[in-house]
Amino acid sequence: MNTGTNIIEFILKAAARDSRIIVGGSLKDINTYIPGSNLLIIADKEVHELYSDIFPDFPLIIIESSEQTKSLSTIEHIYKQFLEQDVDRDTFILAIGGGVLCDIAGFAASTYLRGLRYAFVATTLLAQVDASVGGKNGVNFNGIKNIIGVFNQPEFVICDHDLLKTLDKEEFLSGLGEVLKYGFIGDPEILAYFGDDSNAGQEDTGKIHDIVVRSLRIKKQIVENDELETGLRRLLNFGHSFGHAIESTAKIPHGIAISYGMLAAIYISARKGYMSDGEAKKATHLIKGSGVLKAVSLDPAMLRYHFAADKKRSGRYLYFVMLKNIGEAFTEKLEADMLFELFEDWLNKEVSSASGLITLKQN
Ligand code: GLY
Repeated sequence: MNTGTNIIEFILKAAARDSRIIVGGSLKDINTYIPGSNLLIIADKEVHELYSDIFPDFPLIIIESSEQTKSLSTIEHIYKQFLEQDVDRDTFILAIGGGVLCDIAGFAASTYLRGLRYAFVATTLLAQVDASVGGKNGVNFNGIKNIIGVFNQPEFVICDHDLLKTLDKEEFLSGLGEVLKYGFIGDPEILAYFGDDSNAGQEDTGKIHDIVVRSLRIKKQIVENDELETGLRRLLNFGHSFGHAIESTAKIPHGIAISYGMLAAIYISARKGYMSDGEAKKATHLIKGSGVLKAVSLDPAMLRYHFAADKKRSGRYLYFVMLKNIGEAFTEKLEADMLFELFEDWLNKEVSSASGLITLKQN
């Protein structure tokens, strides 16, 4: 158990299997969760360097996980290691790391020998509130994020908050960006966590426990109703349509980029008349005052390129998530070119507002 918290357990009920989510569990207690001794660990290099003393004693594959290594060549490397380590259908894969590591390891485990049993120890806030839960695993391809992947639930996920104390500050803020998202799409009370002192929260295991539990309550409800993202689950992509383009262009952590994407989506919600100007102003103020954003310099041509690349998944139209109110989100199928024009209007407004948050790179 993490210091100063109780364990809260959820069972996420999915089509192929239930996924057990242990919030406040500890890597130190991993032996109580793993199913036997035929086990292989896939771990993030930094996490292993920091915590090898509490790793269980099993064969290990170390991965330097980043958006750049979230690729098919890393998957091939893992498959080769599986062959060398004589992985068989009874081998259980335990992945220990952040969102990218979980995505990579979950995909390798889900595809090798048509699927091995696997579980995660989530070591970043982003992985604990989002990436490790819900069964989306995959890699980037040809510059397009997450375009190769599967839906396949891990048998269990341990969210160990003690490990967050060594997390890079920007990575912690990135996780908070996904927490903001849950506030906007379904739990406005979570937004009370954000304020002048939000940046000090990294040491506050009790508070982190609360926001992870609240975030995962929403995620569980959504995924159980629409595991394969044919409708409701799209709400979890609030801020992501433009967030992904900003992430790839500015090379900033995912949750910070999607916070900018949420600002753009709020602007568009108001421009299209779905959200009142007053509510949009309040929502904008909440994000700008959250401490999550950092100043970025964006290249408009690259934004267009990455947005167009991302669009390849859905053709001319995309399901865009907007807000009616803080806590009330919905999706509308919109023409991508029209959306990008609205996004450019938002970008120009931000740039000319002299807030210093966004500047444009000129070529
Ligand atoms: N990260 C969004 C989802 O799990 O659907």
